[in-house]
Amino acid sequence: MLDEKLLKKIDMQRLPVHVAIIMDGNGRWAKKRHLPRIEGHRAGVKSVDDMVTTARKLGVKALTLYALSTENLSRPKDEVRGLMKLLQEYLIKELLRLCRENIRLETIGEVEQLTPVVREALKKVKEETAGNSAMVLILALNYGARAEIVEAVTKMVRQVQNGGLREEDIDESSFSRFLHTSNLPEPDLLIRTSGEKRVSNFLLWQMAYTELYFTDTLWPDFRGDDLLRAIIEFQGRDRRFGLTEEQAFSLKR
Ligand code: IPE
Ligand code: IPE
Ligand code: MG
Repeated sequence: MLDEKLLKKIDMQRLPVHVAIIMDGNGRWAKKRHLPRIEGHRAGVKSVDDMVTTARKLGVKALTLYALSTENLSRPKDEVRGLMKLLQEYLIKELLRLCRENIRLETIGEVEQLTPVVREALKKVKEETAGNSAMVLILALNYGARAEIVEAVTKMVRQVQNGGLREEDIDESSFSRFLHTSNLPEPDLLIRTSGEKRVSNFLLWQMAYTELYFTDTLWPDFRGDDLLRAIIEFQGRDRRFGLTEEQAFSLKR
């Protein structure tokens, strides 16, 4: 249940279209409780559920969750194995809910390198939710923004070489069509939990004008009301996109 007082503070006409979250702090949450790290990740799944429910209820159109960075795959084998297992369980459990709530699942990142069982589960859930349109849930899995940019450059060069794209047509908008996020709006709001104030190789290109929100709350403690707080702060910000206050104001009208 969301806090009614917080809900009332939200201007439903000015919701962020796309919210991205760096879900950090699972390990520290577990450590504080003298539990193995994987228990922190397990507890974090409840926060994921809560975010999907809250974002969907509000009418946020796209929610991207950074679940696994490319660098995270170099963590101890046990932890990586545990994360894969949790992901698999999550996908199996989530399918019905995503269908019921008209949510589409997409991924960004190199999913081909994940375990066959996870790949299979992802394929199934993506296929079965492909026609859903109320919200898109994007899981960033084995994702690294620098690798994504290099891959985009490579694909673009290939297209120029084979005549599919003219060099003079290379610009920001044609470039972004080669990124994993080609069919998504750029994030309006980025949230990072656990007190760290860095972007850790997440959506580097796409975040040029994203509003950043940092909170000390550890991911497993982050709930729907915390998302409302982040959105309230976002709505109090003045986005100018490099323009003067007056210009930006007239753009909004
Ligand atoms: C974030 O929590 C989840 C993943 C990176 C998979 P961490 O596991 O990074 O938690 P801390 O930062 O060690 O507390
Ligand atoms: C970022 O968190 C990746 C995810 C939340 C999936 P990390 O915990 O891996 O980031 P660093 O190592 O603190 O920068
Ligand atoms: Mg971390």
